[in-house]
This record gives sequence, structure tokens and C-alpha cells, in this order.
Amino acid sequence: MSLEEKLGEMTQLSPNFFGAAESVDLTGPMQQMNLKSEDVPLLGSTLNAFGAENIIEMQKRHMERQPHHIPMLFMADVIHGLKTVYPIPLAMGCSFDTGLMEESAAMAAREAAATGVQLTFSPMCDLVRDPRWGRVMESPGEDPLLIARMTAATVKGYQGDDMSAPDRIASCFKHFGGYGGSEGGRDYNTVDISDGMLREFYLDGYKAAVDAGAAMGMTSFNTIDRIPATGSKKLYRKILRDEWGFDGVAITDFDAVNEMIPHGLAAGGKEAAKYALEAGVDIEMMSTHILNYGKELVRSGEVDEKLIDEAVWRILSLKNRLGLFENPFKGADAGKEKEVCQCDAHMALARKAAARCVVLLKNEGKILPLQKGAKLGLAGPFADSLSVLGGWSITATGGNSTLLRGLQMHGAEVKTAMAEELKPMQMGFFDVSDQTAELDSLADCEIVVAAVGEHPDDTGESASRTILRLSHNQEKMLEKLHDMGKKVVAVVFSGRPLELKPVLPFCDAVVQAWFLGSEAGAGIGDVLFGDVNPSARLSMSFPQTVGQVPVYYNHMNTGRPVVGKPHRFVSCYLDCPNEPLYPFGYGLSYSEYAYSNLRVEKTEGGLPLQVSVDVENTSKVAGRETVQLYIRDVAASCVRPVKELKDFVQVDLAPGEKKTVSFTVTTEMLSFWNNEAFVFEHGDFVIMAGHSSDEVLSETVTL
Ligand code: NOJ
Repeated sequence: MSLEEKLGEMTQLSPNFFGAAESVDLTGPMQQMNLKSEDVPLLGSTLNAFGAENIIEMQKRHMERQPHHIPMLFMADVIHGLKTVYPIPLAMGCSFDTGLMEESAAMAAREAAATGVQLTFSPMCDLVRDPRWGRVMESPGEDPLLIARMTAATVKGYQGDDMSAPDRIASCFKHFGGYGGSEGGRDYNTVDISDGMLREFYLDGYKAAVDAGAAMGMTSFNTIDRIPATGSKKLYRKILRDEWGFDGVAITDFDAVNEMIPHGLAAGGKEAAKYALEAGVDIEMMSTHILNYGKELVRSGEVDEKLIDEAVWRILSLKNRLGLFENPFKGADAGKEKEVCQCDAHMALARKAAARCVVLLKNEGKILPLQKGAKLGLAGPFADSLSVLGGWSITATGGNSTLLRGLQMHGAEVKTAMAEELKPMQMGFFDVSDQTAELDSLADCEIVVAAVGEHPDDTGESASRTILRLSHNQEKMLEKLHDMGKKVVAVVFSGRPLELKPVLPFCDAVVQAWFLGSEAGAGIGDVLFGDVNPSARLSMSFPQTVGQVPVYYNHMNTGRPVVGKPHRFVSCYLDCPNEPLYPFGYGLSYSEYAYSNLRVEKTEGGLPLQVSVDVENTSKVAGRETVQLYIRDVAASCVRPVKELKDFVQVDLAPGEKKTVSFTVTTEMLSFWNNEAFVFEHGDFVIMAGHSSDEVLSETVTL
């Protein structure tokens, strides 16, 4: 390949750049990127083209023009399903169910592959602690272990054992690294986290993706220690390649090479290309500095051509692993596309997943589950809304997704009021005028389901918020329903933990419904009427107020912790407790569980430890319990978190049934980053097991 051909292979542009060769539009975007029509046949990949017929056609045209007939790689954002949409990743995290995650990703792969997609920009494994950041919806949550397990399951679900199979796609983890640490929760903002925090918390998800064999990794928009990730040799050369041995492809995020200029790292496009190449970028997404300046950089000796050769080798190796040299269309098949997209089996899985991700936050007076055939009022902007799929549902349409439909499917007689849909803040809407008078029509309903939340377009990329409360009109609605003497069941649709404290006094039950995908309404209905006993647990802490943010369970202790009642000169707020409203791992069920008999046994030499605990379903309802193991290292050469999730196990328990759950604690699980390496230090460890991060039995052991 010539140098120009190699640089083309390293460039990714969207489908609108791939017109018919002779007639490519040299104005507008192409001109801005300084792209010439002879560059187009050399481009190695594209993003977000959909549809088997369309992709087959594009591929044919491209291969005719490509000098060596090298197939193009079709990548896309298939984030939580393609046509059949499953719950947003933050909600999937709440399921704590890695099997379900793998199955859901495999379903997404089947649909995407049939439409011609060959690689997805998923999973996102950014650790998230700040609900102001809109992108928390795309992450499995705040805990490194949960993220790592969900990430590994997702990669496995997409790629299977052989990513060249017609129903599999390659997986790209993102955004490497530490994007979740954006200051103030503002998207694209600076990240400044210590090396210890990076190594022990933020990197675990990406590492899990690499270990699971993910084919590609994507850079992030943020800086890390004052260097934009896309130009960070520490992240890409040192950690990803040298330490973790990643031999897959590194792609930039959208325009991220170019963004090194406004960041203030590169003075211009040539310097930006140099930084990216030296850091180890293989594909530049949606800017063309490598293409435009690569030749000059190599000819002048500023960049070694070896770096370009290595990058192109990795890209071609991926195309080879996908089998594109044998079959450039891979799974693209218009017949199959029709057959698998939203087929019955997929919709059934979406419904199962939706129900598994619903988190029951409050259930006073055991108002839930509802009686089948109940007469219900239904109020609020999500009462009959199809906007419940969740962000990144690019090509999807709803199934049984409205809540109204979900209630009716369970035989409920439903009367709706005040159901005008929300409009997105993105479009400048913050609220609607007071509509609470409409609620008077629900006077004869004893129970009202209040479908509240935030607009899905106000979550995801570029959707940061500083106020996390429900809109004023919704809060007034809940208050009025309460004042009317109704039993209020709030169903909250959101892509982030919202500030629910102000409305809790008006709600008898609170059900966190996130955005649950194609079968959202059906899945919520299954939980509300007790066909499915809620088992999900929070993957991210809910703050009491936005002023506490970031608030997360695995924080460090201070030198002045609160012991007993808070008072002056300890680390606390004057106007709010330190604890979140609902912590990580929290979630109610229609069953009740009792924990007892925590046992910690050392093996000869101390480790591994055998930990076991008994858990009993003391209720009359069968349920699924997620038993969580936390550990605290009491004193070490670097301060350690007050607790860290080290393992979890899900058990199904019949009414009255008791099971013993066992964990093995290894040296590796107790190791920490001492700023040079992961080490284990002897001393006291508190072993905790239980129902949630704030509800555990504990015992101290000396190792
Ligand atoms: C920007 C987003 O940050 C990234 O997550 C996404 O995959 C790319 N755009 C491509 O659409």
C-alpha cells in the first residue's frame, strides 16, 4: 500500500462522504476537512450506516473503487439494542445479572449484523459518580467490579467465540479513559483524577473489556492529567498496549484529534496528527488531520512510518478477524434483517430485561403489587409516552412500551389525566404551565400511578444538568394527588438518579423505571402487578440533593469522619446528611430477606479466605436476592475506601427457603495500587456481606 492508501485506511468518515466517486460534493463538509475526491475510495471505515441493502450497495461501490479492493468496515452506535431495544446500560447495571447482559448484547449483535453493522461502539465502561453528567445513562454505574463484570458480559455477547460468524459483531469499549470524571458533570469537560483513583476505580471497566477480547477501544474527549486522552501516550502506549497487551485497534472519538487544537495541546492540525500518531491512534474518526498531514510528518522524519504501518496492520487484522476479506458483506442480509429485528423472541427478552431492571425504592403500606384488574388513575407526562426507549435508540420504534399499555395488558381499568408529554430542555423547554386542575377528573380513583421523569433527550451525550429535580409542574402534581387523598405510586423515567427527596412525602411507592426500551410498559406492568418480583439494585447512588454530588458508596474515610451524630469540626454538611438518599446496591422486593451467620475462615497461610453467609426468604413470596460482599482494608500505606464491592451472587429463594452463599477472597481482591504496582499488605480487614452497601453483617479478620 502507498502511504496515501495507508493514511486513508486510518480515516473514518460518515456515510454522506461516500457519494458516487465522480460526483462527490467538494463543497461544505468535504472542503472544511480538506478532503479530495481521490481520497474517498481510500477511506477505511464509516460510522452509523444502517440497513442491509444500503450497506451491501455501499460496500460494492467502495470495493470497486478501492485500489486493492479492501472492504470498508461498517461501525455503528448500537448501545442498548438496535431495533429491539433493551434497558439503558445504567438500568442493566441494576439487574446485577451478567447472564442477562450477555444475552441482550447477543440479541443486539444478531439484529445489527443482519442490517450490515460489523462493529459497535459499545460497551461504554466509564465509571460514573456524578448524575449531572448526561452520559451516566450509558454506563453500568459507580462501582468498578459491577462495571467490569457487565463490560465483560457485553463484549462476550457481541463477539461470541468467533466475531466473523454472521450473527456476531466486534465490540469497541469506550471512552478510554476516565471520561466519567468530567468536572462538574459538564460533558467534554476536564478530568483530573489521581493515578491511584485512575488505577483502582476508573480503569477496571476498560481492562475487563481488553481481557474479554474486545476488538477495539475508543479514546475519550477529556484530558487526563492535562493531556487530551487522544494524545495520551501514558494511556495508549503505556497502559493499554504495554501493560495490558492490547493488540486491537484504537479509534478516536468523533473529531477528537481536531479537538486537541481548542484544548490547547496542538497549535494546528499537523501537530494534532503527530500527537495522535505518537499516542497510538489507529483510526481518526470524523476529522482528517492524519490523512492531510501524515505524509508530510513521515517525509520530514517527524513521525516514523513504522507507526503508520503498525496502525494499518491492526486495522487490516481486524478486518481479517471479521472475515471481511472472504465476505465483505458479513451478516448483511435483507431477508434476515426482516426476520430477526423485533422478532418475538427478542421482544420477549426485552420485556424480561425491562422487568429485571426496575428498582423498587419505596413501598409504604405494601401498596405494591397492585391487584389485577384494579381501577387506576394514571397521570403525568410518561402516562402514554413512547419516549421511554432511552437515548441512542437510533433506528428503533416502540413495542409495548407505553405505561398505559403496560397497565392495560394486566387487565387494569385506567383513567388518565394531565398526560401532556414533556418537551426536552435541549429544545429550550423547562416546564409547562400549571395543569394540576386536570387531576380533579381522577377523584374516584383510589390509587393513582404517577408517571414522572425527565425527557430522554435530556440524557446522554451533551445533556448535562445542574438541577436534578422533577419539573415544577410534576412536583405540584404529586403534591396535589397526595392532598386529594390518593395512594400515589410514582414511576420515575430517567437516565440518571434524580433528586426525589422533595416528592417522597407525597408518594406511597416509588418505582425507578429508568428508560427500559421496547417493552418498557409491559416490563413495568409485570412488576407493578407482581408477575415479576422486583430484584434490581441501584447501580448508582441517589443524592439527597444535588449539592452532595458526587456522592458514592466507596469513598475514602476522612481524618474527621462522622461518628454518631454530626457536629462542628467533623467532615459533614450543616444542612444535609453525608449519606445519599438511596445508596448503591439498594432496592426493595416483595419478599423479605434475613441475613445471619456470617463466617470468615482463613485457609492455611491466611488467604484465600472462605466467607459464607446465610440468607433466608422470610416472606410468602418467591424472590431473587443479590447477596453482596464488601471489604474494607482498615490501615494500609495508601488510604483505602470505607468499603468496596468484591463479589456478588444472585440466589432464587422460595418462600421460607434459606441458602448459604459462599465467597472466596483472594490476595488479588485485597490488593491496591501503591502508586507503583498492585500490592497486598497484611493487617485488619472488615468483611461485610448483605443486602445492600448500607445493610451488611460484618466481621474483622487479621491477615
Ligand atoms: C461521540 C460519542 O462520544 C461516542 O460515544 C460515539 O460512539 C461517537 N460519537 C460516534 O457516534
